[in-house]
Amino acid sequence: MDQARLLDIQHLWVQYPCGKAVLQDVSLRLQAGEILCVIGESGSGKSTLLQAILRLPGKVEITRGEILFAGQDLCALQGEALRNIRGKGIGMVFQEPGASLNPIRKIGTQFYEALRAHGPISRHQADEKARILLSCLDLGDPERILRSCPVQLSGGMNQRVAIALAMALEPAVLLADEPTSALDVTVQVQIVAELQKLRDQFGTSILVVTHNMSVVAKLADTVAVMAGGHIVEYGARDTVLGSPTHPYTRSLLAAVPRLGRTCDASG
Ligand SMILES: Nc1ncnc2c1ncn2[C@@H]1O[C@H](COP(=O)(O)OP(=O)(O)OP(=O)(O)O)[C@@H](O)[C@H]1O
Ligand SMILES: [Mg+2]
Repeated sequence: MDQARLLDIQHLWVQYPCGKAVLQDVSLRLQAGEILCVIGESGSGKSTLLQAILRLPGKVEITRGEILFAGQDLCALQGEALRNIRGKGIGMVFQEPGASLNPIRKIGTQFYEALRAHGPISRHQADEKARILLSCLDLGDPERILRSCPVQLSGGMNQRVAIALAMALEPAVLLADEPTSALDVTVQVQIVAELQKLRDQFGTSILVVTHNMSVVAKLADTVAVMAGGHIVEYGARDTVLGSPTHPYTRSLLAAVPRLGRTCDASG
């Protein structure tokens, strides 16, 4: 496998089944262990991009281009071959934790079902794996969490459970759609630290969509900026944040003028 390009999206054009064209000529790469942050205005096509990569049936239509995952073109795969890649090769944390979790099913059962779908595993082994991942994400008392349903947990806890569940199959690539947007600032900081820990421990490549420039500054190796279904700016974090060329990136940075000075201010 070409480690340099674990996920290689080339000249991708995507529309919704109603005919609405969204992505136009999008090209992006994700290397092993890289964290790519995708930013851009609301409606620019960020979630559509993740839907296209995940190839969920009936969601979006790829009209042109390629999505190469470990050298295989996902656009040419169907059925079982795609299901094997989804979850195990590419994990997903959706914009709403509700889309990743069944609200009224015990977390332990959800881990067991996700793992069992990809190979033989006992409930005991699934619980053990879930405990380790929940602890990795700093969720205290994993026993209680395994016995709880999402409706009994806070938003921040559910967001972490959704990340742990996506990580359960040890995917090579984790897609996360605004995993911190609904959370208070201290929980956002923790989630960012936990995503970094997962990358460091498991070597996971992460593509994260976010509106939060502090998250980008802390987490990203590379940054892609989307506007109107195009990538308008793409490169190493320090280049994109240090000398942005697109007006949208400039306006985002102007909205957080203290971003580069937080270190000076604190010490
Ligand atoms: N199911 C759908 N059918 C038709 N059009 C859709 C559908 N979902 C999204 N769109 C449209 O596609 C465009 C891109 O939407 P998308 O959800 O990808 O944006 P986004 O960048 O994720 O925005 P946000 O930051 O608000 O989450 C928008 O114009 C949106 O209205
Ligand atoms: Mg979105």
